[in-house]
Amino acid sequence: MQSLCGYRRIERLTMKISEMQSRIAKLKSEKDICILAHSYQAREIMEVADFTGDSFQLSVAASEVPHKTVIMCGVRFMAETVKLLSPDKTVFLANPTAGCPMAEQMDKELIAAVKKQFPNHTVVAYVNTTTELKTVCDVCVTSSSAVSIVDKIPNNDILFIPDCNLGSYVQNQLPHKNIKLLQGGCPIHAVVNVADVKNAKSAYPNALLLVHPECIPAVVGLADFVGSTSAIMDFALKSDASEFIIGTEMSIVENLQYICADSSPDKRFYCLSQKLLCPNMKVTTLKDVLDCAEGNGGEEITLSESTMSKARRCIDEMLRLG
Ligand code: 13P
Ligand code: SF4
Repeated sequence: MQSLCGYRRIERLTMKISEMQSRIAKLKSEKDICILAHSYQAREIMEVADFTGDSFQLSVAASEVPHKTVIMCGVRFMAETVKLLSPDKTVFLANPTAGCPMAEQMDKELIAAVKKQFPNHTVVAYVNTTTELKTVCDVCVTSSSAVSIVDKIPNNDILFIPDCNLGSYVQNQLPHKNIKLLQGGCPIHAVVNVADVKNAKSAYPNALLLVHPECIPAVVGLADFVGSTSAIMDFALKSDASEFIIGTEMSIVENLQYICADSSPDKRFYCLSQKLLCPNMKVTTLKDVLDCAEGNGGEEITLSESTMSKARRCIDEMLRLG
């Protein structure tokens, strides 16, 4: 009896997901809404999105979509980037509490002080920064574009903020650049260590190790492939190998397993460490997306004209060089 009740409850919840998804789909066409979902979002959110991908792909998609309203399912800096690229659109962050701790690690005052020490350096900001911080930077990069953009900057003296791990990765790829780093980084990726790699490799000796460049250099150095969330997914989907240890947020393991279910059912994906769970990326629910589309939730992103025009310069520079 108890299991039947449990079964009925699950059935109701399942119905609720598909019901919510249909309501969202209807609201999207009625209200001309585009939904963007970062690859770390839950599957039921990805299913209602017009675009899914890494932060670079989403920012490009946002600049090209014709819709009047955009709902970002990701974290705040991603919604702010969409607003910067599309100031005439109404942009919502589906869950206002979804922030990225790395984006809040440095402020304008700190960067102004560091710039005084290194006045001739070009300031490169990872896109995981606040709009305020972008106003004092020269060019933005994402994890997928950092190496190629820094390579194209004519100045070899670079101040890279805030992620010292991504900055170290760029430095290793571009030894001719002189890159100054500050001590910032992703509190999720940066805690994975060499012992985690050893444990995962001994559990799955035939698996390839794919990691995000936000991991520490010692972990990146052991990887078979380093790339953004989408680059990791592309690599795993195209590879002839059949087992992969995934060194980025654990939702990518689930997403890859789901995508491969029909096309490559023998492929297996394992999480490098159970520490790779970003609570901020998990805070958005399908209900938040529905509430936001209905006009009863989310937060509209508003930025002052002057902040937008100053911050936009480094986003434009990213698109020009990227
Ligand atoms: P991507 O640029 O790979 O999407 O990374 C965003 C992010 O928040 C990684 O932690
Ligand atoms: Fe920020 Fe790290 Fe979470 Fe990405 S995984 S949103 S960088 S805290």
